[in-house]
Amino acid sequence: MIAERPPMGFNTWNTFGKDINEELIKEITDAFVEKGLKDAGYEYIVVDDCWSEKERDPITHRIVADKKRFPSGMKALGDYIHSRGLKFGMYSCSGVRTCGGYPGSFGYEFSDARDFASYGADLLKYDFCFRPGDVESKLLYKRMGMALRATGRDIVFSVCTGGMDHPERWARSVGGHMYRSTLDISDSFESFKNIAISQWQNLCYTAQGCFNDLDMLTVGMYGNGNVGEGGCTDIEYTTQFCLWCLFGTPLMLGCDVRNMSRSLLELVTNKKLIEVNQDPECRGAFKVTSHPWISGRSSYMRFLSNGEYAVGFFNLSDTDGDVPFYLYSAGLGESSGYGMVFENLITGETSEVRRDFYSVELPAHGCAMFRTRLVKL
Ligand code: GLA
Repeated sequence: MIAERPPMGFNTWNTFGKDINEELIKEITDAFVEKGLKDAGYEYIVVDDCWSEKERDPITHRIVADKKRFPSGMKALGDYIHSRGLKFGMYSCSGVRTCGGYPGSFGYEFSDARDFASYGADLLKYDFCFRPGDVESKLLYKRMGMALRATGRDIVFSVCTGGMDHPERWARSVGGHMYRSTLDISDSFESFKNIAISQWQNLCYTAQGCFNDLDMLTVGMYGNGNVGEGGCTDIEYTTQFCLWCLFGTPLMLGCDVRNMSRSLLELVTNKKLIEVNQDPECRGAFKVTSHPWISGRSSYMRFLSNGEYAVGFFNLSDTDGDVPFYLYSAGLGESSGYGMVFENLITGETSEVRRDFYSVELPAHGCAMFRTRLVKL
């Protein structure tokens, strides 16, 4: 099965935009290995938009790699990434042009897919710009979904409509393994907060083999790069990463991983948080309790394998304070005979047994993530 768990890796777009070249991709590939990201489970190195020449080859009609920035070609780049034990992600678009104005795969789905497979692609991110208006979006993705399968290679099909046309309703049916459910992220608290809040009711559609994709992480960008905007604080980056882990969304790093701070590297390689993201049952999280009068303060829960649960407390409001969790709303009625213990996945501390209610004090924009289990009272 392809994409048994949410794919993990890196994508060039957030930081580098169109300023990409083969040396940069190789350095990032090396950094993945040297900084322990590969060991933590990150594996796809995705080269996003702007990797090709502006026009197809006039004779073969193939998309060709930019001759100056990728002089060795995409096959050589794929070989390099594979030689370091990692996987190669490529990018194209369902329209006549990519979002950045490069050739799209509309009408060339099968021949392009064959080319991508011959370069060793293990993932294709497939975008949604410049598509002829009278073509149904689902049909465009069916075409590439089929074309990828026809190559005979295992290629993760990353459907990217920016949330348009309700991909949660059809992406899985057309062979998608992940689908972008929102417009583009930018590196600010408001951006990732709105993305997460917009999707909590859609998380029930996420499951093994096809995942709701909340977009590439901005953790560690600090306002630099293509989608830099204002940047976030470390508290906010922790909250973003915990939301992505609890919501089971693909973990695609978007910062310059060559220069990550030690603390953020520790965050994105936190084994316990990643285990929540990668839980084998791949169930969707749901909201448990919202603060009665301060909006943005809510606890969420997710059923994990082995009878355990993950619980996240998120203070997305602009003031410090408490975030509540009622065991009753999580499914434990008063007469159940069970309580819960909460193991904090960042500090390692474990709470005493809670019978009816738990609440956590958090700074504005902060969060706390726990693994919990039932305890007989
Ligand atoms: C769209 C996608 C982004 C990125 C750009 C590239 O906006 O949503 O993630 O791939 O295109 O042009």
